Amino acid sequence: MQQMWTELDDYIDEHLIPEDKRLHQVMKNTVDHGLSNHLAVAPNQGMLLQMLIQMNKCKRVLEIGTFAAYSTIWLARALPKDGYLLTIEGRETHAQMAHKNITEANMDTNIELKVGFAADVLKTLTAETPAFDFIFIDADKGSYPEYLELSLKYSHSGTIIVLDNVIRAGDIIDPNNQKPSIVGIRQTFEALKNHPKLLSCTALQTVGSKGHDGFAIAIVK
Ligand code: DHB
Ligand code: MG
Repeated sequence: MQQMWTELDDYIDEHLIPEDKRLHQVMKNTVDHGLSNHLAVAPNQGMLLQMLIQMNKCKRVLEIGTFAAYSTIWLARALPKDGYLLTIEGRETHAQMAHKNITEANMDTNIELKVGFAADVLKTLTAETPAFDFIFIDADKGSYPEYLELSLKYSHSGTIIVLDNVIRAGDIIDPNNQKPSIVGIRQTFEALKNHPKLLSCTALQTVGSKGHDGFAIAIVK
């Protein structure tokens, strides 16, 4: 199945995802640096993130988990010149790669990369920090419940929160799987369930070049 999913993603990309030399360069730099692109979103997923931002005319975006900044460039592409994107990366080696990629991409919008455990970084934001319009959570899965709560703190009514990797090829419903990352995702579903601060929420399974996984999407009340 994986081969067909990948071929179909290639087909989709060929038809619907225009070439972007900045995104291409990020991928190339990442692989040349010996990092696996598997942790990045797929091109058609990046496009979905871009479209959600465009649909909602978002100007301030928060990304938790930069990795090599491939998704960051997708998020930034969707923003106007006066937009702002804060992206947080916990691993120094990934942050160095991300810094190079963000610098080379030379995007019009202001991208700020902060390095550190995202929950700690978020707690250093001042009370005057304006709320974000769009939040993409894609860092260590064990901390998703904490990231969700902190995201809500920096949200306004209508903020969209997208969480990556919430299916993990079905591991989340395997009772024998007690890995911290999987437990973290299950706790996130529990937190999303009837959350008093959310207007609506769903999760979608995806198959494609990144295997079988999924996104959760929530709108803040
Ligand atoms: C993996 C994929 C991701 O998108 C991510 O954020 C972390 C890990 C993976 O396939 O291992
Ligand atoms: Mg991910």
